Amino acid sequence: MLLLYMSLTGNVREFVEKTGLKNREIEPTNPFFEVNEDFVIVVPSYEGYINEEVEDFLSYKDNSKFLRGFASSGNLNFDELFCVNAKQLSKKFNKPLFFKFEYSGTDRDVNLFLERLGEIEKGWAKKGERKWELFSLK
Ligand SMILES: Cc1cc2nc3c(=O)[nH]c(=O)nc-3n(C[C@H](O)[C@H](O)[C@H](O)COP(=O)(O)O)c2cc1C
Repeated sequence: MLLLYMSLTGNVREFVEKTGLKNREIEPTNPFFEVNEDFVIVVPSYEGYINEEVEDFLSYKDNSKFLRGFASSGNLNFDELFCVNAKQLSKKFNKPLFFKFEYSGTDRDVNLFLERLGEIEKGWAKKGERKWELFSLK
């Protein structure tokens, strides 16, 4: 599974690199590139800003067909806005927000992320299943 990510101050990039998985950055200045394999998108949270660029990427050619879900970095001090960008994207594109973490994540976060990504790859994680709702409701 390919990891696509956006990162304005480096935290998400650091997290993605810790996973050791194949990845590519969606640069806000150039979101128009084509992907032909399954991917998830890891985004930071900026009060809803930056979603336009993610949407530009997903609207490009057939990219959205390969979208399997979202993960997000945020800061819990933002309270109900914690990971707000990914919550909005998850709703709009009807794909699970399967993992949330703070900043660049801990080692435990990386392990949990990989575990849940494995479930997504096996097709176990369908939006609407109870355990996934737990992650997308916060
Ligand atoms: C101006 C600003 C706005 C932010 N807004 C939010 C927010 O709405 N919700 C949230 O959970 N975190 C918010 N954060 C925290 C960042 O999403 C968090 O630090 C994230 O790890 C940044 O990832 P990046 O370094 O890859 O860009 C904000 C940070 C800044 C500097």
